[in-house]
Amino acid sequence: MRVVALQNLKEGAVLSRDVRDINGRLMLSKGQKVDANHIRIFKIWGIPEVYTQAEENADGFITSDKDVEKLAKTEHTVKMLLQNVDTHHPGIEVIYQTAVEHRYKNHLWGNYGASQPLPKNFKLDLSSAIKSQIDFSSMPLPEVPQIITAFTKVANDPTSSSNDIADVVSRSASLSLLLLNLVNSSYYGSVSRIDTIARAVTMVGIKEVSDLVMGIEIMRFFHKIPGDLIDVNTFRRHSLACGLMCRILAAHKGLQHTERLFLSGLLHDAGRLVWYRYFAEQAKMVLYMAQKTGLALYEVEKECLGISHEQIAGYLFRKWRLPFGLENNVVYHHDPISAPNPIEAGIVHMADIAVNALGLGHSGEHIIPHFDSKAWDLAAIAPGTLFTAILQTNEQLDAMEALLAEEWH
Ligand SMILES: [Fe+2]
Ligand SMILES: [Fe+2]
Repeated sequence: MRVVALQNLKEGAVLSRDVRDINGRLMLSKGQKVDANHIRIFKIWGIPEVYTQAEENADGFITSDKDVEKLAKTEHTVKMLLQNVDTHHPGIEVIYQTAVEHRYKNHLWGNYGASQPLPKNFKLDLSSAIKSQIDFSSMPLPEVPQIITAFTKVANDPTSSSNDIADVVSRSASLSLLLLNLVNSSYYGSVSRIDTIARAVTMVGIKEVSDLVMGIEIMRFFHKIPGDLIDVNTFRRHSLACGLMCRILAAHKGLQHTERLFLSGLLHDAGRLVWYRYFAEQAKMVLYMAQKTGLALYEVEKECLGISHEQIAGYLFRKWRLPFGLENNVVYHHDPISAPNPIEAGIVHMADIAVNALGLGHSGEHIIPHFDSKAWDLAAIAPGTLFTAILQTNEQLDAMEALLAEEWH
């Protein structure tokens, strides 16, 4: 089964679910073949998406026994990733389907589960030992980089002008070039060429440029992660994909602060960067325990370190005086319904799950810990919108990564 946004629906597709209008009136039953007239009527009635049967034997998707075996392996990978999640939920169905398709085409499957079966009544016994090694209440969090202070100062001052923020950006030649490249890329889709920082700021907005550039600089700050823990580029790809998807979903929802959502997605796992960077020995132990036990890294880190990565991010963002909206979106990305703004935190939550399921980069997690369906209901994202957002994220990701490569290396 696959969900197809109406603009992508082709004649000849066979429905796997009834199509009903907004009042529940049956328009076309399951098992029927869709023709041009049906598509026209669905458009008139504003049907956003329909469920169709998987196109096996099409586009070389399934052609041999080897492919069947490959598909089974891929499906197993995605099922293991989503083992804590209700896969019958309409949003998760979309994620499952797109994840299987993406991972199948890109050979992204792995061996999931515990490397050794857990003994009966297993309990993590390293918790007290590790907890005693990290006292997070007096944890020496890194000092805020100067450039971040400069951006927050300008962004929080109501009298700031475009020139003030342009001045801060212009202090770094590479950042200036990056901003110009970004505003002239498909990310912003400007019609005419923008060739000065001042014009770029006028076009994008003071707060938006500040959010965008702050996120990029914070990710750059954490570049020295020991390679035996996690590949920093893989971590950044996970973060960037999440940021892009948040921004796209926010735009679909007509939310005002799309860059704030980009920043929230980009930095959602920044707490992990802190322990990867500053507590490498503990990080090694936590990763090892998650792999050994087959438990979600999210659960193991809380058990072993006595603190979650969202809480660590909260401490860091408060110390660095980053905006509250950002802090809340990040702190609640695994529990969005408790957030002061559950719609924004819910978008980060959904985007993180989708990015993890598709294997767009990696933050160290190998199991989705939890899915908050109440936040999904509040955010009211149509499955077709999520489907389109996943496709658009995938389309933008490589180009955006290439743009950022120089700044991040
Ligand atoms: Fe997370
Ligand atoms: Fe994540």
